[in-house]
Amino acid sequence: MKTLIVYYSMYGHIYTMAKAMLEGVREIKGAEVEMKRVPETLPQEVLANMGALNAQKAMAHVPVCTIDELGTADAVIFGTPTRFGNMCGQMRQFLDSAGQLWANDALVGKVGSVFTSSATQHGGQESTILSFHTTLLHLGFVIVGLPYSFKGQMRIDEITGGSPYGASTIAGGQGERMPSDNELLAARFQGKHVAAIASRMTR
Ligand SMILES: Cc1cc2nc3c(=O)[nH]c(=O)nc-3n(C[C@H](O)[C@H](O)[C@H](O)COP(=O)(O)O)c2cc1C
Repeated sequence: MKTLIVYYSMYGHIYTMAKAMLEGVREIKGAEVEMKRVPETLPQEVLANMGALNAQKAMAHVPVCTIDELGTADAVIFGTPTRFGNMCGQMRQFLDSAGQLWANDALVGKVGSVFTSSATQHGGQESTILSFHTTLLHLGFVIVGLPYSFKGQMRIDEITGGSPYGASTIAGGQGERMPSDNELLAARFQGKHVAAIASRMTR
């Protein structure tokens, strides 16, 4: 059973969550997991103006995903920062190259799951994940979220991401907040949950 974690991250928040997701997948016996990033679409000077170059350097060793690799996995976990309440353009462009996979029913019946990050607490995490699900349904994925058996999403004693739709983190207006322990636990839980379901489905 193979799980692919495919993400875009500009400042490293989604990347940090993706690493926790990967640890969660590894908790399932026999689960193979790979982490890949989607191709960058912004020019270097724009990334420099956005103050993203250091974070990009820290992720340079993560291989870039090709669209056909989606067809080789039993489960795909997608990570995207919120852009105006939707997935980021880099992820959109990546998925918009899945036409052949769609035409050949190549992704039908695979497990799909989504996690996200936003600057503000109510800045569109749920809309990002739910609108992402629309694309996954067109492609034939069986959607898995973050069930309430992850009790950390009930917390109100501290600010935290995480909803039944998927794990999430709140990055702050300047990207100054990195994922909290609770948010990382949510990511880990989701990774394990996806891998457990995918291994049941592939048996
Ligand atoms: C063009 C643009 C649009 C954004 N839109 C939103 C938004 O709608 N709501 C929000 O809370 N944050 C928004 N953000 C902030 C990003 O979601 C935030 O930088 C990101 O979650 C950090 O994750 P990363 O470090 O993995 O890229 C936006 C950022 C950019 C650059």
